[in-house]
Amino acid sequence: MIPNQRALFDMPDDVAYLNCAYMSPLLKSAAKAGEQAIAQKRRPWGTFPEDFFTQSEQTRALFADIIGADADSIAFVPSASYGITIAAMNIPVGEGQEILVLSEQFPSNIYPWERAAQEQGADIATVSAPAMTPDGPDWTPAILDAISERTDVIALPHCHWTDGALIDLVTISKKARKVGAALVLDVSQSLGTMPLNLAKINPDFMVAPTYKWLLGPYAMGFLYVAPRWRDGRPLEENWLNRKGSEDFAGLVDYEDDYQPGARRFDMGERANFQLMPMTKRALEQISEWRVDNIAATLQTKTDAIAARAQEMGLTVSASHLRAPHFLGVRFPAGVPDGLLEALAKEHVYVSLRGTSMRVTPHLYTTNDDVDQLFAALKAVL
Ligand SMILES: Cc1ncc(COP(=O)(O)O)c(C=O)c1O
Repeated sequence: MIPNQRALFDMPDDVAYLNCAYMSPLLKSAAKAGEQAIAQKRRPWGTFPEDFFTQSEQTRALFADIIGADADSIAFVPSASYGITIAAMNIPVGEGQEILVLSEQFPSNIYPWERAAQEQGADIATVSAPAMTPDGPDWTPAILDAISERTDVIALPHCHWTDGALIDLVTISKKARKVGAALVLDVSQSLGTMPLNLAKINPDFMVAPTYKWLLGPYAMGFLYVAPRWRDGRPLEENWLNRKGSEDFAGLVDYEDDYQPGARRFDMGERANFQLMPMTKRALEQISEWRVDNIAATLQTKTDAIAARAQEMGLTVSASHLRAPHFLGVRFPAGVPDGLLEALAKEHVYVSLRGTSMRVTPHLYTTNDDVDQLFAALKAVL
């Protein structure tokens, strides 16, 4: 168990911020790294050509290490949608074949597939929300049922963004391989806080921005690319990801080849001198804590919140059907009017997605925050 880490964040005592799924707070140390980076930009004569590569390569390696991959597997992207677009541009889909997605999946993992389907005469097949059981919705059997010889792409998260419902990617990946479907993952709502067995799941592409569970800044993210796609087509042709770009004097000797591995997919200006130091610091902290420890610690917090919600007559999924860090609380009598506003008045921050109240703590969440949530909820119900 990791002890409470609130002191590392700039979080007043009277704020119960239970909304990491929306946007994580920046670590004080990451904010400081960002401030130093802004100061550096005021004096650009201290930035040298090698600086375009060193910190981004260190950050790439740090991220790769967190997911159990090598640095050659990783590209920098500004958003989940950018990464999914790269996947959708590169994976061929047969005419009349299917791209499988979930009902109410986040749009960044829908729109690129709609375009791919339109352009290639394929269909989007949407797995309907499974029936509600006493333990909550169980997506995995529903997804397995929907995979067939017609499936060319399976585009999924690790947990549903509306309520944290868990998806067993190891089991799904076995069926994907059996039918020869590509597996593309948007793990924006889980990477950094929930272990993922990369070797067993063996996704084709996998993307996550840093501004949620990776505790980084907005407009920065990572794309994992399996070796089988590393000679693919990047979304933009930029000079930094071409072979030999380290030699600034030689840049006008145009180069057809790319930097090795997944680097060809890097977004333009990936050196990103302001965001990169914040990203690096956040990843160092996550590595220090370790993702399995973060998950185990957050599981105890969500379990405690779930138990208290149930005592109040609210419903939550059983722990085997939900992600360890993520709770979707449902109101059998309907979502009370003005719920979010009433909670925010008491400095309690959660989100509503559909009929689910997302409660997403992190290592800064204290028992007092949880008391504050339930005191505010009691007043509303
Ligand atoms: C599942 C999921 N994917 C992606 C994103 C963000 O997408 P993008 O980085 O394309 O803005 C979100 C934001 O809420 C999300 O919940």
